[in-house]
Amino acid sequence: MPADPRREPVAVFISGTGSNMAALLYASRMEPCPYEIALVASNNPAAPGLALAAAEGVPTFALSHRGLTRHEHDAAMGKAAERHGARWIALAGYMRVLGSAFVDAWAGRILNIHPSLLPLYKGLDTHARALAAGDREAGCSVHLVTAELDDGEVIAQARVAVLPGDTADSLARRVLIAEHQLYPRALARFVGTARAEGC
Ligand code: GRF
Repeated sequence: MPADPRREPVAVFISGTGSNMAALLYASRMEPCPYEIALVASNNPAAPGLALAAAEGVPTFALSHRGLTRHEHDAAMGKAAERHGARWIALAGYMRVLGSAFVDAWAGRILNIHPSLLPLYKGLDTHARALAAGDREAGCSVHLVTAELDDGEVIAQARVAVLPGDTADSLARRVLIAEHQLYPRALARFVGTARAEGC
């Protein structure tokens, strides 16, 4: 169970590196922060972010989605979050679409970070698409998760200039820095406001 009753417990779902998870975790260790990371969970048992979380003393849970239905996998992830007392779920590079039963069960309590200025470029390859369109700016969005991919209400955005000579990789690296700054602030504000309102 979460150690600090003054903070809102968050389960972070990842599939890979987990740099956004790390940004959320390190921000949660600064005072004051209204949330704490109760669990890091992944559909990829080899996700480097799991090892990082474990090394930081954060409980982890891993369950491959292979051989399971979407519903079975979602349900197991949700049960793990509940076992660790999570009230919120932060998706951070979680490369799975959550089914509607899961989204309904956690309605209004799941956030995601997406590397584009939504509603532009839902889905994958956001930076290549921004460059192909000749956009002058790119960025990232924190949004509520619904059953539609990258479609829920946007609660925060950060903008990044597209520079001459940018490639999808160079742009992704700059946007990722903005993600690390934006997500902890947005999550803290969102759960802090909900807590103050007694939700
Ligand atoms: C981030 O760019 C995030 O916006 C996207 O996937 C990437 C995950 O990176 N959904 P990391 O695992 O947080 O380092």
